[in-house]
Amino acid sequence: MDLHWIDTEATEEERAAVDTLLGSPIDNALPGPALEDHVVRGGRRAAESKRDLLLPALHAVQGAIGWISEGALDYICRRLTVPPAEAYGVVTFYSMLSTARRPPRVAHVCDDIACKLAGADALCEKLDEALDSGTWHRSPCLGQCDRGPAVWFQLAGEEDWVLTAATPEAIADGLAGKGERPEGASSTPQTAEPREPGLRLLRRVGLADPLNLDDYRERGGYTALRRAFTLGPEDVVREVKDSGLRGRGGAAFPMGIKWEAVSKAPVRPHYVVCNADESEPGTFKDRVLMEEDPFAVIEAVTIAGFATGSEKGYIYIRGEYPLATSRLQNAIDHATRRGFLGDDLLGKSVRFQIEIRRGAGAYICGEETALFNSIEGYRGEPRNKPPFPTQEGLFRKPTVVNNVETLVNVLDIVSDGGADFAKVGSKDSTGPKLFCLSGHVARPGVYEIPFGTTLKELLDKAGGPASVQAVLLGGAAGGFIGPDELDVPLTFEGTRAIGASLGSGVIMVFDETADLHQTLLRITEFFRDESCGQCVPCRVGTVRIDEALRRDGPPDVALVDDLAQVMRDASICGLGQTAASAVQSALSRKLLAPKERT
Ligand SMILES: Cc1cc2nc3c(=O)[nH]c(=O)nc-3n(C[C@H](O)[C@H](O)[C@H](O)COP(=O)(O)O)c2cc1C
Ligand code: SF4
Ligand code: FES
Repeated sequence: MDLHWIDTEATEEERAAVDTLLGSPIDNALPGPALEDHVVRGGRRAAESKRDLLLPALHAVQGAIGWISEGALDYICRRLTVPPAEAYGVVTFYSMLSTARRPPRVAHVCDDIACKLAGADALCEKLDEALDSGTWHRSPCLGQCDRGPAVWFQLAGEEDWVLTAATPEAIADGLAGKGERPEGASSTPQTAEPREPGLRLLRRVGLADPLNLDDYRERGGYTALRRAFTLGPEDVVREVKDSGLRGRGGAAFPMGIKWEAVSKAPVRPHYVVCNADESEPGTFKDRVLMEEDPFAVIEAVTIAGFATGSEKGYIYIRGEYPLATSRLQNAIDHATRRGFLGDDLLGKSVRFQIEIRRGAGAYICGEETALFNSIEGYRGEPRNKPPFPTQEGLFRKPTVVNNVETLVNVLDIVSDGGADFAKVGSKDSTGPKLFCLSGHVARPGVYEIPFGTTLKELLDKAGGPASVQAVLLGGAAGGFIGPDELDVPLTFEGTRAIGASLGSGVIMVFDETADLHQTLLRITEFFRDESCGQCVPCRVGTVRIDEALRRDGPPDVALVDDLAQVMRDASICGLGQTAASAVQSALSRKLLAPKERT
């Protein structure tokens, strides 16, 4: 094996950033030849045991220095005994990590579909004139779609932060280290006064102190975990099955089936993964739960661990969510100190720990198997399925992976029983559901409604749009529906019946003033950029569809349909399988008016 180590030395600052994460470098920063020998002679296994620290180590350097030099990469490789070529493949996979020198403050300005409606393009034109290139970049959706244009400040040596309703002046201030850093707004119109009664998932939002464990407990926190201990793992899984709860991350898979499979899997250890990557354009519901009710997320993940016989849980959160990350970490720290996490939960001899892992700017890492590869320190490329995560998931062990919102539902299911939960909603879509409303509605934000409410009823609740040209349901991977379809019941089966999907709960409204062609181009550009490139139908198909829409004249519908069919049939993962859905839905419903194509 040829291990080619880099000659450049890491600076002291770079080493310190890595050492703070990995501890003192006494035994594994071997000199080049010795390290080579170590890896070749079977140190690889030892190396693999540390491989999952690769992404955190890269984050550590990026966060401290603002970019990752060859010397820093080399130092990380030596510390973790990862071949540099592989580490280079990983670092270049993620848009948040830079191998080129960058200024210490960089503004990532969202120009994705919702922010476009809020004037992101005009904002970017002004930034083109006013700011040096390199200090700012256009970005895909940042999960703040109800209050765009959004900007994420990526800073070296300081906490990142997010600016909403951004102006050129506020961005310039942020880049100069000035400006007010908002502590997050709740984005939940139903929790404003007069507060809507009967909220479940949002019950503590706007009321509880998200940093305070005692406050959480006073508002019902940790009663579900105690009840889970009383029931025992098998009965918890039974309640989850009885609830009929389906996943809220997009695929709508029954949660109980996954939990049962992992709880019964003979191979050990088992893992729980909470998918908090939330990068689907238009989606921001999980962020609100994590920012406003972080202890609920931690308690729910803990119950998942108990029910499935796992001792370790990971929360994989997108890197552009600094506030949610710090609040979850605070919740983990407090829960650990008070015995709600650790080696002896509530004195019941149950072990469970939770670790947060940050994504680094790759939409594909929300796909469950890409997410596993990302945590394990590899490029975030999806794996073929089967084997499914319940058989071979994280570290190739049986793994339950669930979305944040899906997990938070478990608190009610365990406290009140699965049958009680199933009384809400419809037969095939049980429980409450969060929707992310953005675009042309009077009161955008996260809304909680029982499944089965019609789209029109929900839009009325949100103050209604003045006119409707189209509504995007389910995100960029979902589809458009027309103004004559607003009576659709918001259930998995109801949307399916009209050829749409609920996806991750996106409802983006476009009134008569919106330029749908530009919106579609942003969607095709998004998939073209975010395809991991691993399989040909998706890698080539996303480019061809983008080109088809950029040509002058009406789009070639037959070509788009052909490409979509091949991508659906032959792509490895859901990205390629759904990348053409939004375009096809708009074309088949004739939502692109001829005037927009001239
Ligand atoms: C390209 C792609 C991106 C995805 N992104 C997310 C995501 O950000 N969050 C999420 O929960 N699920 C996402 N998923 C779905 C996950 O693969 C998986 O189905 C989900 O985490 C399972 O949890 P659930 O059953 O609770 O929905 C994505 C899927 C694909 C194909
Ligand atoms: S479908 Fe696209 S994103 Fe998914 S594995 Fe293939 S190339 Fe990667
Ligand atoms: S934050 Fe800009 S589209 Fe979502």
